[in-house]
Amino acid sequence: MTSSTALVCDTEAWKDLKGHVEDIKKTHLRDLMSDVNRCESMMLEFDGLLLDYSRQRATVETMDKLLNLAKDAQLTEKISRMFNGEHINSTENRSVLHVALRAPKDAVIKADGKNVVPEVWNVLDKIKEFSEKIRSGSWVGATGKPLKDVIAIGIGGSFLGPLFVHTALQTDPESVECAKGRQLRFLANIDPVDVARNINGLNPETTLVVVVSKTFTTAETMLNARTLREWITAALGASAVAKHMVAVSTNLALVEKFGIDPNNAFAFWDWVGGRYSVCSAVGILPLSLQYGFSVVEKFLKGASSIDQHFQSTPFEKNIPVLLGLLSVWNVSFLGYPARAILPYSQALEKFAPHIQQVSMESNGKGVSIDGLPLPYETGEIDFGEPGTNGQHSFYQLIHQGRVIPCDFIGIVKSQQPVYLKGEVVSNHDELMSNFFAQPDALAYGKTPEQLQKENVSENLIPHKTFSGNRPSLSLLLPELSAYNVGQLLAIYEHRVAVQGFVWGINSFDQWGVELGKVLATQVRKQLHSSRTQGTTLEGFNYSTTTLLKRYLETSSEPQM
Ligand code: F6P
Repeated sequence: MTSSTALVCDTEAWKDLKGHVEDIKKTHLRDLMSDVNRCESMMLEFDGLLLDYSRQRATVETMDKLLNLAKDAQLTEKISRMFNGEHINSTENRSVLHVALRAPKDAVIKADGKNVVPEVWNVLDKIKEFSEKIRSGSWVGATGKPLKDVIAIGIGGSFLGPLFVHTALQTDPESVECAKGRQLRFLANIDPVDVARNINGLNPETTLVVVVSKTFTTAETMLNARTLREWITAALGASAVAKHMVAVSTNLALVEKFGIDPNNAFAFWDWVGGRYSVCSAVGILPLSLQYGFSVVEKFLKGASSIDQHFQSTPFEKNIPVLLGLLSVWNVSFLGYPARAILPYSQALEKFAPHIQQVSMESNGKGVSIDGLPLPYETGEIDFGEPGTNGQHSFYQLIHQGRVIPCDFIGIVKSQQPVYLKGEVVSNHDELMSNFFAQPDALAYGKTPEQLQKENVSENLIPHKTFSGNRPSLSLLLPELSAYNVGQLLAIYEHRVAVQGFVWGINSFDQWGVELGKVLATQVRKQLHSSRTQGTTLEGFNYSTTTLLKRYLETSSEPQM
């Protein structure tokens, strides 16, 4: 067992796993896959989902040892502490309760002794009412026209999750029907090019701007919000802001100061981490405006189903726990620093970018939750693309270069099936043929002997050999409805938490993003004084001075 200040690497279970690595190195997935009992024990079904982790470099013994690690890392207690609203985000002295955002109305989840579920539902009810008004046209813009287009301004956690869900639903038949005649766009980057792209083709008269920021201080979001406020007021006058701009934030005082009517502000709470906020008004407001509340409610229900599974299922059958433990195994024991997220679904094209933030901002830490430097790496480098696009891009490296554990995500029923008469298979079957083939190509590879039998010329044999023994897991979803999208989100959120709990870090703070923001403030001040008063550059090193000098001398930025 770990005491509060001990590191998990000092536990017996960790040391046991370290020793076990040598046993696993002697195995090959080709052989492991021929053990049907092993494979059977590595299949898991829950609420329509099928998880197959038999292509992990793990035996039944490995799984037992990982479950021992969970015990030594006090995983059960840590999960309970999260659901019980304890301040497990200790460096910010906050609870971590994104599970409350999708809890049923009658659930009781407490933060600081108070049940937060009624507050959550107050905001959800307000979103429902507001989005119905906008969608029905009973709320109109300053010139009396219905608001059919929405631009959601926000960055990081106030952007990536909602974008992922929106992209996933864009071709879901039910969602398509509900979104007829409407557009939802996302403005994140402070690059003015992103503003230009977002407003292109939109009319301020028919556009609603939703400013999404937990703090309402994020530099990019606030400047983008001022830029779109200007876009609206230039066209419709200052009073139009009340009809055309609403906000989502935990900081309602700053929302009002910005000029947005507090009645048109949608709250959330400091116990919701930015990257875990898609189920708060951050995601639910823009998504309800686009698809209607009933679709979005299904998304919340899918996430809630996984929350309950995560909270109550024994670890050996618990999807997020097993996935989290396997990720720890891959990173800390087998030494694989990266992970590829490979959905065989174009609708999930924004899933990897979202999980990049959820995972890397959560678990990319250098010290334990108690501030001790870690003698082991945490987090993994996440990247990914939908299949089959990725196959024609970076899969070469995954097959014959570095070993990168892969998550293959497949969908049984296409959102948009196509079958052309005379074709061998439907278009979705064609896609899924690749989903089923790639994991075996990685696991089995191809030996020189096989190539010789195929009469491949000797000089090409080394180039055409595939070592195999490359781990992956496959997750099969019945379809990509709002409900399933919610399930997928929650699986990954909890998996990341499991990893962090085992590594003994704080997965819910993000101090690593602060330093760059501070230095940017210094540069911003310098740019202002150099441009307005011709002040010479001061306080920067040789490199930055040279770059800044070149930028100031040659740029043609509009002068203030
Ligand atoms: O810079 C990182 C970060 O703090 C993220 O954690 C957060 O999701 C994002 O910025 C946006 O913050 P806010 O919602 O407060 O604008």
